[in-house]
Amino acid sequence: MKRVMFVDDEPNVLQGLQRMLRPKREDWEMYFAKGGEEALNLLQNAPIDVIITDMRMPGMDGATLLEKVSKLYPTVVRIVLSGYSDDVNILRSVVNSHQFLAKPCDYDTLIATLNRATWLQDYLNNPFLQRLTSNTSSLPSHPSLYYEIVLMLEKPECTIKQIVEKISADIGMSAKILQLVNSAYFGNSKHITSLVQAVNLIGLNTVKSLVLSLHVFSGFNNSKLKSNLINNLWNHSLLTAKVADRIARMEQLDRKIIEEAYSASLLHDVGMLILLNNLPQEYEPLLMNQMLPDIPIEEAEEVFFGASHADVGAYLMGLWGLPESMMQAIAYHHTPSRQNSREFNGIALVHAANVLTNEAHPIMPRSETVRFDEEYLDGLGLRGKTDEWRKECRCAEQDETI
Ligand SMILES: [Fe+2]
Ligand SMILES: [Fe+2]
Repeated sequence: MKRVMFVDDEPNVLQGLQRMLRPKREDWEMYFAKGGEEALNLLQNAPIDVIITDMRMPGMDGATLLEKVSKLYPTVVRIVLSGYSDDVNILRSVVNSHQFLAKPCDYDTLIATLNRATWLQDYLNNPFLQRLTSNTSSLPSHPSLYYEIVLMLEKPECTIKQIVEKISADIGMSAKILQLVNSAYFGNSKHITSLVQAVNLIGLNTVKSLVLSLHVFSGFNNSKLKSNLINNLWNHSLLTAKVADRIARMEQLDRKIIEEAYSASLLHDVGMLILLNNLPQEYEPLLMNQMLPDIPIEEAEEVFFGASHADVGAYLMGLWGLPESMMQAIAYHHTPSRQNSREFNGIALVHAANVLTNEAHPIMPRSETVRFDEEYLDGLGLRGKTDEWRKECRCAEQDETI
């Protein structure tokens, strides 16, 4: 049974939640704390899977509580439920929380959020990787792209179009912007997968605050690595996004699928970035084929860590509340037949684009699987398409990379 804790200084809110969630008593053990201190005391005595807290509370506020929880109990999923809409404080809470819900929160949204949070803990059932991933509050950017974005934002004449172009080439910033825009902070803007729409919705001023004053982003520290893996990872991710975009347009798929395919492809190997940033000494030799040689990256990771970069990436993007479809595309990009959907959607596009991109340019001395999931493509009637898609990959390669 999963354990969920609610924290709010208003007894009425806690009673309301208790009433509303009565039907879930069989699924979750629920705890209700009247403030931060009480929550921390309860946590000392009982392990909790998910904490949902108000922000503005007397004594210890929600942001402070979540900061303490992230340090003391890093595997706990941290969610804010607040009516508080002051920009700086919300952005501050974004650093230590995985998701943000607005009060009043309807039953379906609350249940869906909690169901996903508890499901994710079973999905990546590896406490070491859970700890490492859930305390990742932002991902580093490509060093030179980060520098270009900072310079651009410091100029008063900087336009949103220029910023969108740069952010859409960066894995770390794209992921964080999609987390923000899919949180309740931006009202009803759930399920946003388009980066253009995401940057337009959050606005240039918020991007400036995140980058220039709150320093939510930073450039990847290249001195952690002996090789040039960071450039390879960015070029591979960007090329995969461009290939998926070209295939989706050529196949005249829906606009929503085209948008999602680009973003999900850009982020499909976000798990590699998480591992490279947190465990450079262990992960770099694995990518360089110096350990467990000559098997695809994702298989070597399964042996070494007990989970692959696809699992780690999908876990963090799920924690951050990115749309389910994007999470699935990231989770199953090597093995799409392991999931149930049999539609020509983002999952198929990310898979195909990733295979083609690895075929053309292995990311590192060790590449990912360069095999199409034939059973899956057969099920979609797409097996005969791969040569045509290969041509799209060659065209995308001629576009400039970083
Ligand atoms: Fe991958
Ligand atoms: Fe990849």
